[in-house]
Amino acid sequence: MKVLVVGGGGREHAIVRKLKQSPHCTEIWAAPGNGGIAFDATCKNLAATNVDAQVIFAKEEQFDYVVVAPDDPLALGMVDKLAEAGIPAFGPTAAAARIESSKVFSKNLMKKYGIPTAEYEVFTEADKAMDYIRAKGEYPVVIKADGLALGKGVLICEDEQQAHKALQEMLEEKAFGESGSRVVVEEFLTGPEVSVLAFADGKTLKPMVSSMDHKRALNNDKGLNTGGMGTIAPNPFYTPEIAQVCMETIFKPTMQAMAAEGCPFKGCLYFGLMLTPKGPRVIEYNCRFGDPETQVVLPLLEGDLLEIMQACTNGTLDRVDVTFKPEHAACVVLASGGYPQSYEKGKVIHGLENGQLADGTAIVYHAGTAQQEHRLVTSGGRVLGVTATAPTLEQAVEHAYAASEKISFEKLHKRTDIGSRALHALKGE
Ligand code: AMP
Ligand code: GLY
Repeated sequence: MKVLVVGGGGREHAIVRKLKQSPHCTEIWAAPGNGGIAFDATCKNLAATNVDAQVIFAKEEQFDYVVVAPDDPLALGMVDKLAEAGIPAFGPTAAAARIESSKVFSKNLMKKYGIPTAEYEVFTEADKAMDYIRAKGEYPVVIKADGLALGKGVLICEDEQQAHKALQEMLEEKAFGESGSRVVVEEFLTGPEVSVLAFADGKTLKPMVSSMDHKRALNNDKGLNTGGMGTIAPNPFYTPEIAQVCMETIFKPTMQAMAAEGCPFKGCLYFGLMLTPKGPRVIEYNCRFGDPETQVVLPLLEGDLLEIMQACTNGTLDRVDVTFKPEHAACVVLASGGYPQSYEKGKVIHGLENGQLADGTAIVYHAGTAQQEHRLVTSGGRVLGVTATAPTLEQAVEHAYAASEKISFEKLHKRTDIGSRALHALKGE
């Protein structure tokens, strides 16, 4: 089979490398891919959001299967358009992708079907939202833009003044454009966060190994929110008992709710969960693989990713096994200094041969790299993800950090505490 992966980040690199292990995968392409993915796949320089051009390209090149990895092309209906063109694809339809692309849709879905989440109300007017927040009088309060906002649409407000400012920016000044023309005001929850990705075929759902993201830019969860600075899997807070509760109260009801709404979910459904004192709650859904969760989950997957993905498309997921190695994985993200705000690009990356470490002690997933005159240079905020797997979490973290020390570029920034909260939890501290 000739397979195309749409997207060009670390997540897509992890998908490409896993798909390549499938005996059914004879040719693999990525669009746009990046400087490091180019060592593993043929790259076609086409923006992931340029849906029409992507579909034309997929027809011209006669791909047998397309994996649409990022949220924007899914929300724009790329899977629907590929289906119209007769090309089977992995990912939800635009209608099902609303579970991520509209917070109002997902919150109303959870309310209607009794799926546990933070209490909330939806507003289009700042005054009404402010009246609601004052009447509640509970801080912090969480304010979320309705639409996709590159992970920046969630504001945690400590007092009335901050809430007022957030509402002004979103609703009056349209800081997030149309994404912020409706806002969700919700209760602030506390507890460890868990990411659970699951394969879904519209009816059946099979969860992958759990993981933990580290979203803030600096150690000890300080600094700005980012796309994710590192991950570990499995997440030690997510016990088999909690997994059972999530399956019965969240995962199955979500699949049933989407089917009942006429938009059954096929693809990878991502549950962002918070384990609160009152039980697991959904913080957010994503309609795709997480980044950098994928970089720790897929290396642990046993079996054939292409076969599993096709089963999701064909509605036959009940007939394939989804199992994981009983090991641990850790991914440390190497970012450009300044990320998630402004940063410089074009820094030469040292320490890699053909995109990987010569000693093979870890896998290097490329997120923001480009090839320039046969040299690898930085081209994004998150540059590389260094993933190690090992029998224990402690070893996985140690190996990922040791490997990351062998790579350098000017103004490299990484967190040095990926996995430490999980390790403390495992030691019962
Ligand atoms: P989201 O983009 O919805 O994942 O939100 C980004 C981050 O904001 C989450 O990973 C949480 O850490 C935090 N967050 C979102 N909603 C809440 C909430 N209701 N209570 C506490 N923290 C939240
Ligand atoms: N790592 C969080 C996300 O992919 O949205």
